[in-house]
Amino acid sequence: MLAKVTSTEPEISRRSYLGWLIGLCTAGVGAVLSVPLIRFALYPLRMQTTEVKWSDAGPLSHFVSLAIPLRRSIQVEQVDGWRETVSEKVVYVTQTPDHQLQVLSAVCPHLGCSVQWSDAKQEFICPCHAASFGADGTKLSGPSPRAMDSLESRIENGRLLVRYRYFRQLVPTKEVIG
Ligand code: FES
Repeated sequence: MLAKVTSTEPEISRRSYLGWLIGLCTAGVGAVLSVPLIRFALYPLRMQTTEVKWSDAGPLSHFVSLAIPLRRSIQVEQVDGWRETVSEKVVYVTQTPDHQLQVLSAVCPHLGCSVQWSDAKQEFICPCHAASFGADGTKLSGPSPRAMDSLESRIENGRLLVRYRYFRQLVPTKEVIG
């Protein structure tokens, strides 16, 4: 009489394959479900809670035929919940080749020093690490990862208004952080 030969190998490999497949599906579903949870958890870090009001940069007559960038100090009013703060910020008003007014933040996109216009060199120079920028804010040389940051502006009742913003430093693209 022949002995009956049985093998459990195919059964085991089928089971382990199913277990592996179920594990993979579970991990996939878990990853998909975790995306909204992670976004929800990080939302307060990315949210901009500060409202920045428009600042008066002066009458338009001050910016007629600008040959070189004009330095202005503006009062910036910020509302953050119940807290309201007013601070003074420096901007430069320049004229684009098509005669549009452009307002540039004086904050260096490298590490935040105050960029200054040099009449002698006809360019903006950062005193900290010598980054230089053209009259329209384009990056010329130095460690700054991008051009000077332009600010939103508009003309109202014959005056130039500016919305001051803070931008992330050390990144190649302009990113508002406040
Ligand atoms: S902070 Fe302006 S070049 Fe470094």
